[in-house]
Amino acid sequence: MAILVTGGAGYIGSHTCVELLEAGEEIILLDNFSNAKPDVIRRIRELTGKSFPVCAIDLMYEPGVQRVFREHSIESVIHFAGLKAVGESVQIPIDYYHNNITGTLILCKAMAQAGCKRIVFSSSATVYGTNQNVPFREDYPLSATSPYGNTKLIIENILRDIWVSDHEWRVSLLRYFNPIGAHKSGLLGEDPNGIPNNLLPFVAQVAVGKLPALKVFGNDYDTLDGTGVRDYLHVVDLAQGHLEAVRYIRENPGVEAVNLGTGKGSSVLEVVAAFEKASGRQIPYSFASRRPGDIATCYADASKAKELLGWQAQYTLEEMCADSWRFTKQNPNGI
Ligand code: WQD
Repeated sequence: MAILVTGGAGYIGSHTCVELLEAGEEIILLDNFSNAKPDVIRRIRELTGKSFPVCAIDLMYEPGVQRVFREHSIESVIHFAGLKAVGESVQIPIDYYHNNITGTLILCKAMAQAGCKRIVFSSSATVYGTNQNVPFREDYPLSATSPYGNTKLIIENILRDIWVSDHEWRVSLLRYFNPIGAHKSGLLGEDPNGIPNNLLPFVAQVAVGKLPALKVFGNDYDTLDGTGVRDYLHVVDLAQGHLEAVRYIRENPGVEAVNLGTGKGSSVLEVVAAFEKASGRQIPYSFASRRPGDIATCYADASKAKELLGWQAQYTLEEMCADSWRFTKQNPNGI
């Protein structure tokens, strides 16, 4: 039986497909390619030497989703597909709620009808809101700071309610901190459309000469150097966490929220220094005002992932920057 990976051509989805295939898992990749390039499929096949079905389907197209479950024998689902830009979600909340929530409901309905009741959901540390002490623990109160974050929170609650209605469901809610880096081959990596919102792809584009300089959003936070601190984790570590979560729900019932982070925080300036060291390029920057909605410090209590899934992040910040730089050098204009 196969694992259906929705959003499987995306940044985290494609890296997860590689780790699943290399672990001997059978996958079906579903993506509407609204935020992913078709060549990612070729690259996954090149990296793994494996072939797999690809469904170019939007989760909003219910007949198409139901056909996938009719035509394939699916054991579990890893659900990445969704709109994911925090800032954009504030501008177009209706699109975010409709696409992310309705798409998930269509997926869950098709799963239930097919008797497929195991799901790993791509959630986010953003569900911890802004006023909590670090490190963030899974049992902290949850809140949303953007429509995007609210869709993650709502979907976590939908999946919990589905489990309450039918205990045959097994649910893993994976709360990511800040995924960065790229596959060591340089074939897969973060490939945002347009000007990157997130720090690492922006820094990488400065290093490769596509952008002139970085604006550091705030240097007056209560942190070691005044700049924002985040828990950056390698996307391959994150992908491995999904493989462990799929294995966990094979053997264990219930619903579990799990942080996927390193448990360590790095400041913006520490990331800049690490990327300069990895790339040998200078990253010009200037300080600007704080970005609305940003918090000073965010990093994970990663102990539950180790205890429950036997998972722990392996890569260092320097390795994350080196792998990101290799991908950017090999793909200066993206995939
Ligand atoms: C990191 C730090 C910025 C850009 C976001 C989403 C979160 C999750 C991960 C999906 C902050 C600073 C950034 C720049 C800067 N995504 N920064 N200049 O905001 O921690 O988290 O991505 O789940 O939901 O909110 O990541 O990379 O945008 O910012 O100074 O040009 O870098 O202020 O301190 P963030 P980020």
